[in-house]
Amino acid sequence: MKKNIIILTLSLLIKISFLMGVSSGNEMSGDCPQKRNTVTAPSDYISKVNPLRNEPRHIKKGKVLSHMKAKPLACKHCHGLSGNGQGSMSHSMNPKPRNFTCTETMNKISDGQLFWIIKKGSKGTAMPAYSYLSDKKIWQIILYIRSLS
Ligand code: HEC
Repeated sequence: MKKNIIILTLSLLIKISFLMGVSSGNEMSGDCPQKRNTVTAPSDYISKVNPLRNEPRHIKKGKVLSHMKAKPLACKHCHGLSGNGQGSMSHSMNPKPRNFTCTETMNKISDGQLFWIIKKGSKGTAMPAYSYLSDKKIWQIILYIRSLS
């Protein structure tokens, strides 16, 4: 009898921890809409429009840069592999990395703003400057980021 109770309790505990695992899985989708206090780009940047066509070959190049090639650190470490802003390094950060999968937030940010932040970084936050990247590579990254929302 005692043994049965132990087995019952154990299986209940396993079920609870499984359910908690599932619900913390939901958290992994990131905040949306996301709080955003990023400085606005100067007027000569903010009105820039992506000169590249929205083509798979550009998106693919942007993805490789975001996931692997960008130096000093690939974007995924902070913005996450899926772009949800929950990368492995993001947890201690304030403000948090942008959630590229959040359409509501991303639709409010112009191409020129994205370009400026990637090129110059966001001062006072963990977002570094990628000033060494050519304009073309930055626009490819932007096409990739936009494809996530
Ligand atoms: C070390 C962590 C880190 C890395 C690496 C990183 N970011 Fe960020 N990123 C951030 C943080 C933190 C913010 C939020 C900044 C803010 O709120 O102003 C941010 C914000 C942004 C934004 C939002 C701009 C806006 O106006 O809202 C864009 C776009 C962006 N990052 C693109 C990139 C790209 C592209 C890469 C890789 C080439 C990259 N980030 C790499 C941490 C990072």
